[in-house]
Amino acid sequence: YDTKTPPYSTSDKTSFAYVSARDRWPVIITQGIDDVHRTTMAASDPETEKEGKQIIADLAKLKYELQHDRQITPLPDDGYPDVAGYNKELQQLGNPHWFSVPWLFSECYLYRRISTCFTLSTKWQNYDIFARQKMSTFKSSRPAVLELAARYKDIVTELESKHTLKGSKTQEELEVAEKILFMEMCEICLWGNATDLSLLTSLSYEDIQKLQGSEARKASEKNIIVNDLGAAFEILNAAQKSGKSERRVDIILDNAGFELFVDLILAGYLLSSGLATTIVLHPKSIPWFVSDVLPKDFADLIMALANPQTFYSALSEDEQHAGKTSQPLSDKEVEELKFLFSRWSTFHGEGQLVIRPNRFWTEGGSYWRLPGIEPSLFEDLQASELVIFKGDLNYRKLTGDAMWDTTTPFAEAIGPLGPKSGIRTLALRTCKADVVVGLPRGEDEKLKATEGGGADSGARKWAWSGKWAVVQFCDGKA
Ligand code: F6P
Ligand code: MG
Repeated sequence: YDTKTPPYSTSDKTSFAYVSARDRWPVIITQGIDDVHRTTMAASDPETEKEGKQIIADLAKLKYELQHDRQITPLPDDGYPDVAGYNKELQQLGNPHWFSVPWLFSECYLYRRISTCFTLSTKWQNYDIFARQKMSTFKSSRPAVLELAARYKDIVTELESKHTLKGSKTQEELEVAEKILFMEMCEICLWGNATDLSLLTSLSYEDIQKLQGSEARKASEKNIIVNDLGAAFEILNAAQKSGKSERRVDIILDNAGFELFVDLILAGYLLSSGLATTIVLHPKSIPWFVSDVLPKDFADLIMALANPQTFYSALSEDEQHAGKTSQPLSDKEVEELKFLFSRWSTFHGEGQLVIRPNRFWTEGGSYWRLPGIEPSLFEDLQASELVIFKGDLNYRKLTGDAMWDTTTPFAEAIGPLGPKSGIRTLALRTCKADVVVGLPRGEDEKLKATEGGGADSGARKWAWSGKWAVVQFCDGKA
């Protein structure tokens, strides 16, 4: 079921694949080793400590194999059925080495392999090697979280009490206001992705704030190269007007922390405005690409909002070391965060906000395989009005991470999820990898010519940093 267009490979020195394998992955593994080391040191029972040391050794071995361009070894059987698929693919690829393998597959393998180190233990089964990083980055986004919480409360209160928005009087005015807010929420949701932790391996507090404030968002609007949000709004608006009672929107989640927070802001807005009646969230099942959402991250976020003062006053080990103190929240801020907690936990409790994991999301292949490999999930998504795919990795998986010409239509590049698939796909993606489709002719060349854009090097550097974004829609029900 794969596309015939060849995928990006770690062997291509002009691609971000090569840079990732050479520079980024060893850092990610090292940070993982540090994390396990810390937990092992603090362990009180000898079995946990013993297994922790074994995990550290396994991770070090993985890093060695990668850095010495060894053959990629089959995954050990940890009891989950996806192991067979990974190992079959390795065989079909001719048992490749780390620096001559399709990028998408090898990067998925990396995280799946890390996961086996834990699933093969007894005491570390559900351990999330990236949890520390995820929570501390969420804490660092406090100013943006507070700003959004205040705004969300205003909007939702207005919707609930007066069924109006921004003082709109007629149905038409209300629709215009709803559309503006929809676009704004989606853009918040889009740029929330710029702060994923796998790319920005060392982000300062100031950096994070710069990426998240509303000023930054306005300034970034011109960086959305293709923007199909209007078409997506029309779909939800038409469904609402049609009087259909069940109108579902799915979000294929990307990162935890701030990005999940803004995903929930969007979800809450869709429910409160009536643009959707149910939101289904799709998290990952194993620690994935550092910061991706696991079901527990959802629970942790809700808990943080339930007790915001406790959450923000607790200092991490690092903060204590650095002699930091915490600034208490004002009563108004606490109230605004608790407002989010109360709305979101009610939606969740009443079944309007659903979490639905599936191990398909952490397989090694692209989403071109969805109908063939996981027909029940495919059918499930067909029942949705709109399926929103967040972030860079989801975009790579939608397009098969293939070396498409950048003018290839989005609908063509997503293959079996394209026209007539029965699925409406909306990708909200900040560009952090080479693959980009659906651009007007000449756009790629223009961006390559910008500062640091790659010029004539052959590399599409402009698409690596998260500075540019695409919002692309394909109506598979049309
Ligand atoms: O391209 C860099 C990268 O880390 C890729 O490994 C991965 O596709 C992506 O970014 C992760 O970003 P996101 O969280 O947006 O999917
Ligand atoms: Mg991610």
